[in-house]
Amino acid sequence: MKVTVSRKAHFNAAHRLYRKDWSMEKNDEVFGKCNNPNYHGHNYELIASVTGEIDQETGFVIDVKVLKDIIKTEVEDAFDHKNLNLDVTEFKDLNPTAENIAVVVYNKIKAKLKPSLDLEVTLYETPRNFVLYSGK
Ligand code: NI
Repeated sequence: MKVTVSRKAHFNAAHRLYRKDWSMEKNDEVFGKCNNPNYHGHNYELIASVTGEIDQETGFVIDVKVLKDIIKTEVEDAFDHKNLNLDVTEFKDLNPTAENIAVVVYNKIKAKLKPSLDLEVTLYETPRNFVLYSGK
């Protein structure tokens, strides 16, 4: 019997989507307003969902306090009020699209979980645009 435990979190961060090896015209064509050289911000909403067996002693799949602390350290402290392109090493050579942010967040949280637990990350870049990554 597997149960999923979810925790929501929030961070705001700035980014710019572009490729250094493309011309400004091509970047504009592909990334539109997100190629603004002066960056722009988003209010990111994160849902981290952890699935596993219920521990018979505690009744928990994961202590939600533990999940909360992992998200705080790995995501909020690392990304909140940061410029993703300039301040976050993972995006030094990786375009900080919602897709890539979700993968980075997944990898950071997954590394802190017991290997038996599955993780799914949902990342909202805007209230209407969101991506999902579950390690596949
Ligand atoms: Ni953007």
